[in-house]
Amino acid sequence: MATIGILGAGTWGSALAKLLYTNGHAVSLWSAIPAELQILETEHRHPKLPGVKMPDGIRYTASMEEACRGASLVVFATPSVYIRSVAAAAKPYPEPDAVLISVAKGIEPETFLTMTEVIAEAIGCSEDRLVALSGPTHAEEVSIGLPTAIVSAGTNPQAAELVQRTFSNDYLRTYTNADVRGVELCGALKNIIALAAGISDGIGYGDNAKAAIITRGMVEIARLGAALGCDRATFYGLAGVGDLIVTATSRHSRNNRAGYLLGAGYTAEQAVREVGMVVEGLNALPAAIGLSKRCGVEMPITAAVDEVVRGVVDPRTAVNRLMNRTYKTEV
Ligand SMILES: NC(=O)c1ccc[n+]([C@@H]2O[C@H](COP(=O)([O-])OP(=O)(O)OC[C@H]3O[C@@H](n4cnc5c(N)ncnc54)[C@H](O)[C@@H]3O)[C@@H](O)[C@H]2O)c1
Repeated sequence: MATIGILGAGTWGSALAKLLYTNGHAVSLWSAIPAELQILETEHRHPKLPGVKMPDGIRYTASMEEACRGASLVVFATPSVYIRSVAAAAKPYPEPDAVLISVAKGIEPETFLTMTEVIAEAIGCSEDRLVALSGPTHAEEVSIGLPTAIVSAGTNPQAAELVQRTFSNDYLRTYTNADVRGVELCGALKNIIALAAGISDGIGYGDNAKAAIITRGMVEIARLGAALGCDRATFYGLAGVGDLIVTATSRHSRNNRAGYLLGAGYTAEQAVREVGMVVEGLNALPAAIGLSKRCGVEMPITAAVDEVVRGVVDPRTAVNRLMNRTYKTEV
């Protein structure tokens, strides 16, 4: 049995708390939001996970120290925009040998760092303590025990395998991968392609356009990954294609839904308000555009989403332009 601290009690942090407690571990769940903690503690449910009963034995806390002290694993589960501040605030508390896990999907806009890189910098620890856990994993499904597969990515195989053993059960299959940066780029960038697929749906285009966007979107994010030294195979695995399929097609996907609203004429602010939860694809756009420029990698779908989000091109024109570009071979 492991002792585990989870920092962030949104839908994913809460679903993972339930999973890990059910796996037999001692779990503390920290939140920055007192009202969220109160509902979890008194009603044993998360407001955004309707019908899911949280187990009685999870400890809910507003103290980062309490969540981290004595834990062999600390999970960073807030939206990406809060990861640096949460890691900086948590810095004094994790045990020196604790494995630090990021489940957030994002790239920091100013630094282009992935979330494990942000945690390493904020905490001041080496990469062999860090693991990125990512894949096609809706909280809504994991929290009710539906079959799911995920990737535990770490440069230190022992850390990645510890996470694999701790999270796996008869409905969660965990694979390991040493390509941490590739896994994290997949998790952040596929959300932008899901926005594009949603935009196409919102305009009223059909499955053909969506399939083209998903497939060509995968090509462009793999191209960027390769330019950054990642393994192309990662992009065609669970963390890449797998997560893109789920995000671009599922009714649970906020990015897909936000894209749909953009396509239907909402502004980005209106779409985020309507979705009511984090839309990581919008947060990842500045870094994706910055990285594509820095690496000289063409990313036309990402660029089209960026133009729609900034309101400089209307959604129909943006998607039509993608279909009417110069002739290319499919590489
Ligand atoms: N929900 C999923 O199915 C899922 C699955 C895999 C990965 N993820 C990733 O996990 C991360 C969290 O996603 P989520 O779905 O739980 O988001 P969410 O929108 O449910 O989480 C919002 C939570 O952020 C926390 N928060 C709000 N303000 C904060 C602050 N100032 N400081 C610290 N924390 C604050 C609160 O706990 C709040 O509940 C994202 O990066 C997401 O991409 C989510």
